[in-house]
This record gives sequence, structure tokens and C-alpha cells, in this order.
Amino acid sequence: MKKLLVVNGPNLNLLGEREPGIYGDDTYESLCDMIMDKAENMGIKCEVFQSNHEGAIIDKLHAARKSFDGVVLNAGAFTHYSYAIRDAIAAIKIPVIEVHISNVFARDDFRKNSVIAPVCKGSISGFGFASYFMAMDALVKYNG
Ligand code: DQA
Repeated sequence: MKKLLVVNGPNLNLLGEREPGIYGDDTYESLCDMIMDKAENMGIKCEVFQSNHEGAIIDKLHAARKSFDGVVLNAGAFTHYSYAIRDAIAAIKIPVIEVHISNVFARDDFRKNSVIAPVCKGSISGFGFASYFMAMDALVKYNG
């Protein structure tokens, strides 16, 4: 596991402003900085990508299959209904770990279902920004 891609879906660019009671006060930029610092400490390469558009996320996952060894994916609300993103994950051979900042099981009923979970290597939910760091560790240490 030498090069990881972190993909963030819709509305995550507004972290810091968006529903701080649920997602915290830290900005999206600070999340990106923390991810890049962690990657450096782990001795791996990392890229962080964000899009509010389903097709752009699918294009990025397709491209990742040739240039990355694993993906950390917070698909935002697409988690709960995007069969197209589900199929993109199933189509690529590199491992994808689903992450969520909030505990999706402790919120609205519609968030309790993830259509992407069955095609991901695993899912991490509810640990704030640490969900991303745990997924990075999991990809590097427990990939087998
Ligand atoms: C989220 C949870 C989703 O239900 C929500 O739509 C998001 C963020 C999280 O990180 O907790 O946009 O993926």
C-alpha cells in the first residue's frame, strides 16, 4: 500500500460551516491538511479529492484503479442511494473503505442503509475526522 486516494462526496467541502453540531467546527481544508500530515507520517503518498457530482466521483474511482493502491471514500449522501457509485466500486479491484464522520446508525432512518457497504472492504462510522485516519491505517496495516 504505497499510494492512497481519499474521496469526499457532496457537501463535505462545507465542513466547518455545515451542521457543526454533527460534523464539528473544523474546516474541510483542515481535514485535508490532517490527512496529508498523517500520510507523510505513515510514509505513504496520498491525494485528496472532493466533488459534489456523482459522475466526477465515478470517473475518479475508475482512474484510481490504475494509479492508487486503495481508496478511503466518504460518499456523503450518495452512500445511501447511489447504485452507480456502488457499481464503480465493484468494478475496480483496489480496496475501498467507506467512512463517515458522524455515526450514521444514530441518525435518520435513511442514513442507516448504505448501498456501497457490501462492495467495500469495510466501513468506519462515527469517529469524527479520525474515521479517515482509522481507514488509512486499516488499508496499510490490515490489507490482506
Ligand atoms: C456523512 C453521513 C451522510 O449521511 C451525510 O449525507 C453526509 C456526511 C458523514 O460523514 O457522516 O454528507 O457521510
